[in-house]
Amino acid sequence: PSGQLHDVRARPLRDLRISVTDRCNFRCAYCMPKEVFTKDYPYLPHAQLLTFEEITRLARVFVAHGVRKIRLTGGEPLLRKNLEILVEQLAQLRTTDGQPVELALTTNGSLLARKAQALKAAGLHRVTVSLDALDDAVFRRMNDVDFPVADVLAGIDAARDAGLGPIKVNMVVQRGTNDHEILPMARHFRGTGTVLRFIEYMDVGATNGWRMDEVLPSADVVHRIAADFPLHALDATAPGETAERWAYDDGAGEIGVISSVTQAFCGTCNRARLSTEGRLYLCLFASNGHDLRTLLRGGASDADLASAIGHIWQSRGDRYSELRGQLPADAGAPGRRVEMSYIGG
Ligand code: GTP
Ligand code: 5AD
Ligand code: SF4
Ligand code: SF4
Repeated sequence: PSGQLHDVRARPLRDLRISVTDRCNFRCAYCMPKEVFTKDYPYLPHAQLLTFEEITRLARVFVAHGVRKIRLTGGEPLLRKNLEILVEQLAQLRTTDGQPVELALTTNGSLLARKAQALKAAGLHRVTVSLDALDDAVFRRMNDVDFPVADVLAGIDAARDAGLGPIKVNMVVQRGTNDHEILPMARHFRGTGTVLRFIEYMDVGATNGWRMDEVLPSADVVHRIAADFPLHALDATAPGETAERWAYDDGAGEIGVISSVTQAFCGTCNRARLSTEGRLYLCLFASNGHDLRTLLRGGASDADLASAIGHIWQSRGDRYSELRGQLPADAGAPGRRVEMSYIGG
């Protein structure tokens, strides 16, 4: 199809985040609180999930529209059976200028030690591992299933050994819950080549009981770290990047801060999200997705799919974080937002 697509705010389509399951083996309170995500929670039944063939077919159309980077998310993507087969299919895709599509995975790391080698062999390029604390007790409390930190660290090591680097680690910072872990985490990952990124706790979904006073602004994170380990700002590596980069003055590598609450980055947002059941979401905070599965299963041709996706992107005006930033700090966000475990981080 088309080459270059732009939305109504002149933002190109570059990044496709695909959720491969709405399930997770963790119950982080800011994402899948235990009280809500019980065993009776209405997870998607198997027949509703896109198959690997369907995902790959859609991904190919997105890539023809300019996507250069695909990230697999969830839920916990490694819970999806035989995920390496999907990776193998996606690894065949080529961008409009003939390059391999950059293929990344965001995972909680719990199954990574077991799967790193196979993922690398299938063609995965990079992994980002979520880890909210180095202290075992704090981490067990935050994942709320008593999962030990040592196993996630072993997953990170396995990923590095398999060549799935450079590895990034995402830490969601919640004031009063794990902000005292900022320095221990920084100290631990300094000088290892792994890039630690601090994420402001976001008001995503409708179940986590988000409150502004639990957000620790990224500026404070940088301040706290710089007090022990002086930092200087780095330029962005790519337009539309989520993280602002900082380097240690002593050469021990870099960190990142993702500040969607205090410094929204909607202006350059080039990300589309495909839910587990094949809905296209134009924003992490959207309340509605565009149903692509019905098209797929109704016999649409690739050209039909391309034109549908093109029209959807061209009518996109979403910039939730920017708009929220203009409201009073604790204003209830409008609309019923989808859960992050469903739409994919
Ligand atoms: P890299 O390519 O490794 O830089 O990945 P990334 O930053 O695109 O992805 P990652 O999955 O590591 O996301 C990091 C954090 O940023 C997660 O908490 C995401 O939810 C958040 N995030 C990613 N994209 C967006 C976005 O478009 N809007 C907002 N508000 N947050 C986002
Ligand atoms: N705020 C910020 N980050 C979140 N994540 C999940 N829920 C939230 C939230 N409410 C993070 C995960 C993972 C990434 C994909 O999104 O911890 O690192
Ligand atoms: Fe699972 Fe990640 Fe959500 Fe935690 S943040 S419950 S690990 S999907
Ligand atoms: Fe993009 Fe929506 Fe995030 Fe803004 S809030 S950066 S538009 S996903």
